[in-house]
Amino acid sequence: MNVHTLGENMSTGQIAPSCQIVIPKSCCLVIFGASGDLAQRKLIPAIYRLFRQRLLPSGFFVLGVARTEMNSERFRELMAEGLRETFPEECDENCWRDFSSRLHYRVIDYRDSESYRINLAEVLPSLEKAAATGGNRIFYLATPPGGYEDIIATLHQSGLTSQADAGVKLVIEKPFGHDLESSKRLNAILLDAFQESQVYRIDHYLAKETVQNILMFRFANSLFEPLWNRRYIDHVQITTAETIGIERRAGYYEEAGVLRDMFQNHMFQLLSLTAMEPPSLFSADRVRDEKAKVMHSIRPFPLERLEECVVTGQYAGSGTSGHKGYRQEVGVEPGSAVPTYAALKVWVDNWRWNGVPFYLRSGKRLKRRTTEIAIHFRPVPHMMFSQTMGGRIEANTLILQVQPDEGIHLEIQAKNPGSRMCLMPVSLDFHYPREFSLSAYERVLLDCMEGDQMLFVRNDGVELSWALLTPLIDALEAREVVPDSFLYEAGSDGPAAAAELLEKSGRCWRPL
Ligand code: BG6
Repeated sequence: MNVHTLGENMSTGQIAPSCQIVIPKSCCLVIFGASGDLAQRKLIPAIYRLFRQRLLPSGFFVLGVARTEMNSERFRELMAEGLRETFPEECDENCWRDFSSRLHYRVIDYRDSESYRINLAEVLPSLEKAAATGGNRIFYLATPPGGYEDIIATLHQSGLTSQADAGVKLVIEKPFGHDLESSKRLNAILLDAFQESQVYRIDHYLAKETVQNILMFRFANSLFEPLWNRRYIDHVQITTAETIGIERRAGYYEEAGVLRDMFQNHMFQLLSLTAMEPPSLFSADRVRDEKAKVMHSIRPFPLERLEECVVTGQYAGSGTSGHKGYRQEVGVEPGSAVPTYAALKVWVDNWRWNGVPFYLRSGKRLKRRTTEIAIHFRPVPHMMFSQTMGGRIEANTLILQVQPDEGIHLEIQAKNPGSRMCLMPVSLDFHYPREFSLSAYERVLLDCMEGDQMLFVRNDGVELSWALLTPLIDALEAREVVPDSFLYEAGSDGPAAAAELLEKSGRCWRPL
């Protein structure tokens, strides 16, 4: 087994000896939906970059399958176009030629087991023999989610999904269902065809270096963990703000809205990592057990008093920024009530977090792009400076900045130099280097090949978050009148009502 060393020691520029990447065992990757956008713009560029960094196993090939009629030659051209658009600086003709000889394509009818027999079952063995992949197969579903159930069931019927074979895996992208019922159905179909240990559900947030760093920061430093509880923490704010709108995804977004698109997965993952107990072992299942316990502890939302726990909004056009409103986007219903912003107040009812609210907000077309977790500590217990200074002392805040400008900031108070007794807020800052060595897709592909499920979501995690959100989404969708404050100006902080969630308890959102 080959081992490569990655990463730099930030202060000295030296390679950090402990950051090793293991080159996975030989395998093939069968991409369903290979003619689509995801394959062209994300997957193939990620695999190519791994190939260029010599992180792929020597025995490796891709078999793309989709309904679009084309041959392998045309498929390679299409993928080259995608790479040129996504990473123009990475196109090395010789390297691409070498890499693209490992790309193959077959037309398939997703629902027809005969088509699977001819285009997969009969094609794979000869390619596998030539590449010596040892029968290790990864099936990657890069189709629209509507196709998942058919593909999994037909793969199973065609005998391509041996549950006894740990070398056969399935990768599936979100959304994992539309609500609790459909997620349970999807999990049942998946687990009929595969063992849970063969299923890799991608939440690309988990593959972000800074999201993984939440656990390292918490559990590899002795300084903060003793403070990480209700005695020292007043509240937590988790924000994912985007400046982009829905782009060309109206069809999907009209069905999803922000709660399904961002909260069921990314936001609840960030919350679980922030709130979980230290696992006994840093292993995929022990970490996922602890995350599941957090989800179990979340108090159900009070559906009869929605205003206490949720504010939603939708972006409207803005003369200032020139952006059109959500309802004016191509493919959106003119009277659509689909939320593009939500703020939630969440209680984690366990020993550690009793009485500490977690405020979560995410929205599109906001003022600034940022993803951050802000831990707001309690104020000092006694104001010994009140006679000399008056006013209040801002409590300490720790910010885990997930993106952009990834880093960690600790906001503290220090004396303002000079003769007068005066405090000033200062920040202790750590910034990651600008470029990470692996992108999120590169990371998850490597981990899947290696069989490490740490960064993937387990079936119980998916169902627990749907169980919490489905009643809330149903209650919001059942409202006959959406509040006047629903619309917010594109490029703003979001709906004004979001502030009220915190103001009632004397708190306020960190500015965007
Ligand atoms: C996706 C959502 O999962 O995450 C998108 O479907 C959203 O709507 C995206 O824009 C945000 O991801 P990132 O990595 O840009 O923060």
